[in-house]
Amino acid sequence: MKQPVRLALLGCGTVGAEVVRLLHEQSADLAARIGAPLEIAGIAVRRIGRDRGELPVDPALFTTDALGLIKRDDVDVVVEVVGGIEPARSWLVEALRAGKSVVTANKALLAEDGGALHDAAVEGGGDLYYEASVAGAIPLLRPLRESLHGDRITQVTGIVNGTTNFILSAMHATGAGFAEALEEATALGYAEADPTADVEGFDAAAKAAILASLAFHTRVGAADVHREGITEVTAADVASAKAMGCTIKLLCIAARSTDAQGQESVNVRVHPALIPLTHPLASVGDAFNAVFVEADAAGQLMFYGRGAGGAPTASAVLGDVVAVSRNRLAGVRSASESSYAALPVRPMGEALTRYHISLDVADRPGVLEAVAGVFARHEVSLATVRQGPAGGGNGDAVLVIVTHVAPDAALAATVDELRGLEIVRSVTSVLRVEGGF
Ligand code: NDP
Ligand code: HSE
Repeated sequence: MKQPVRLALLGCGTVGAEVVRLLHEQSADLAARIGAPLEIAGIAVRRIGRDRGELPVDPALFTTDALGLIKRDDVDVVVEVVGGIEPARSWLVEALRAGKSVVTANKALLAEDGGALHDAAVEGGGDLYYEASVAGAIPLLRPLRESLHGDRITQVTGIVNGTTNFILSAMHATGAGFAEALEEATALGYAEADPTADVEGFDAAAKAAILASLAFHTRVGAADVHREGITEVTAADVASAKAMGCTIKLLCIAARSTDAQGQESVNVRVHPALIPLTHPLASVGDAFNAVFVEADAAGQLMFYGRGAGGAPTASAVLGDVVAVSRNRLAGVRSASESSYAALPVRPMGEALTRYHISLDVADRPGVLEAVAGVFARHEVSLATVRQGPAGGGNGDAVLVIVTHVAPDAALAATVDELRGLEIVRSVTSVLRVEGGF
């Protein structure tokens, strides 16, 4: 057995505490798999005195001096489970430049400035692994960055946020509104006290950027991702989706396309969308995650599992720790970031989508013709139109329109013009439709 591989653990919260527990429980197996034991050199936290329950670790290992710990000569691998942009970025750049290997679960940092970390890893010669940053326990990034490197990925479509999937699944199952379903998610511990990052789509957008970067060999950052959350999704939208044989999911979509001149580009977006109940992602319920990958030779692949939680996320972290430790012992590093394709990111307006639009309109002759005329002027073709009474007893009607595929900008302009029509009392809902309905 070789000399121990020494870890600096940055953070000992939900994920970090489980990393400590698993390192203890699995120590013999991990050592056998790596060829050397793993040892914790120190654990950096914000509050030394915080009650951490019965953690199987020497309390003397805790420190508030993260940078001092990282710089120690006896630290080989830095495991970052703190989160946020700073000081995590400075710590990890420092560690990587010094030749240490880094394992991180920090999707926000990778999406904000992953390039700085990859560059520092090349400079220092260590590894940068981040399997836990997207979809928790699901082995997904390794397949994208290794197993599928012989193929050409065309699209990645995923449910990558457990909190919003729990909320939308509850709305579908019970008919509850958004606020009620969020309350349930909070009571059950799925949603955080401040659920903004989840319900407004920031968390999913960070993950979308990481997935797109790996799938398309292109640096894609959070700012390149079109983002919409689920706060505007209503019980009526969910009921309308159900009536069409669909459900509503917060999707992350990263798609490659080629224009008439042969120029390839990518579009990366996060928004709620109707998908048919027959689509593999429709049956992903509760707080589970799933990612659907389409590649030229492999065809369709689906990755499914727990996307959050201390133990599932720690599983992915430890898988990375084993990989980077083996590399260090063998004196090798994994392949660097692959961003050679450098594809341009297409703006959302050019993305091809379908829409589901609900309108409150005056119930009188000529209304349908006027509404259809607006779609025609923007060259958006209608797929289905349903009409029902508004139920308010004021002579209005509800129109639910589903379009064929059109550029997102044309659909948005159509909705803008509809809003200005005297016969349209209100545009009550605008949602995209995905997944081959
Ligand atoms: P927590 O908030 O539970 O834990 C954060 C830890 O970081 C705490 O131990 C905290 O110290 C420590 N910390 C915070 N600021 C500092 C600082 N300035 N210096 C030293 N230590 C500090 O976060 P999670 O465990 O939930 O998440 C960690 C990372 O994993 C994040 O990047 C998150 O996005 C990612 N992730 C989390 C998942 C989950 O299900 N929770 C799933 C997938 C990824 P103290 O304990 O003293 O407060
Ligand atoms: N808040 C995230 C979720 C945690 O709900 O999926 C995992 O990144």
